[in-house]
Amino acid sequence: MIVNCRHALAIYRNQKEKRTIKPVPMSDLKTNYLGLELKNPLIAGASSLSKDVANAKKLEDAGVGAIVYKSLFEEQIQLEEFELDQDLTAYDDRHAEMISLFPNIEHSGAKSHLHDLQKVKEALEIPVIASLNCVYDVSWEEYAKQLAQTGVDALELNFYSTPKYHLKTAEEIEHEQIQVLKNVQKSVRIPISIKLSPHYTNPLNFIKRLDEEGAQGLVLFNKLFQPDIDIEKEENEFSYILSTEYDNRIALRYTGLLAGQLNADIIASGGIHTGADAIKTILAGATAVQSVSALYNNGVEYATTMLADIQAWMNRKGYNTLDEFRGKLSAQNIKDPFAYKRSQYVDILLNSKEILDKTVLR
Ligand SMILES: Cc1cc2nc3c(=O)[nH]c(=O)nc-3n(C[C@H](O)[C@H](O)[C@H](O)COP(=O)(O)O)c2cc1C
Repeated sequence: MIVNCRHALAIYRNQKEKRTIKPVPMSDLKTNYLGLELKNPLIAGASSLSKDVANAKKLEDAGVGAIVYKSLFEEQIQLEEFELDQDLTAYDDRHAEMISLFPNIEHSGAKSHLHDLQKVKEALEIPVIASLNCVYDVSWEEYAKQLAQTGVDALELNFYSTPKYHLKTAEEIEHEQIQVLKNVQKSVRIPISIKLSPHYTNPLNFIKRLDEEGAQGLVLFNKLFQPDIDIEKEENEFSYILSTEYDNRIALRYTGLLAGQLNADIIASGGIHTGADAIKTILAGATAVQSVSALYNNGVEYATTMLADIQAWMNRKGYNTLDEFRGKLSAQNIKDPFAYKRSQYVDILLNSKEILDKTVLR
């Protein structure tokens, strides 16, 4: 009997101990973008990385939270709508506009784009966002509708302007772009985000206006490809230059300045190469990040490493959710009033010798 009691006590203690051993909690990487629940904040940005089902599946298997399918360009639309030999002049102008942005865009036409996108959407469980890049009002509206009909979860509109004439004012360009947003809003029911170039006179003002017009997401920023010149051949050449980690400073800055001021979600894009880069922009206030060059450089499987690094950092810091540290270092939340101001830049210039001695020149 005594033995039985001891035995029972031992079992009881053992069970109690088991119950009190707490499993190490895995941080929750979930985030909400455009009203969609993403399992984590790493979005594969628009590019040919997700051009077909096989490639898009690889991204999904690597763990990304969502993908933005490569853009449908006005050029593809025009190819289907114009007989090139009948309207060469009109086409040349549009072509120049497009080519200055993404020189290697595919010329497969809008129908084939819509077909491939629908296949990718059907094959993936994670959200798929379509991207649109037009010039004319009628194309924006019509193709926003057609992209939405593929069943995609949201739409990303690319706003940029590569001015060729001096007559158009910044105000006119911005007015036209706001109008595009309004018209597309009337044409589709899915959430809309805007991917912007950083080249506005005051990006903060324009972003605020887009937010007030109801843009649900703002992707800061797009990267425009600039043509180079080959001095031997004496001709223009177009080549992709992938970003580096240093390129994320502009997204980091504007995310930090805007966090807490908008209804729209802020997505940091451009130069997000590591888990640490993603963490920085979330500390500044980003909802999620988009990455492209890092996945081209290292292969799409590298997304898994980026996510593991975010997870490890959160575990080490004791953060259970992204919300616990999102925006902690935004302009609104930090004590240092100069962190986002120009004075810091002045300080760097005035002390450049000391700073460079410590870093580059060492
Ligand atoms: C090969 C390639 C294709 C791209 N295609 C598109 C595109 O179709 N639409 C778009 O909005 N951006 C496109 N981009 C731009 C990326 O989405 C992204 O904005 C840019 O590369 C900056 O992000 P990153 O620093 O992570 O590369 C492309 C970029 C690359 C390198």
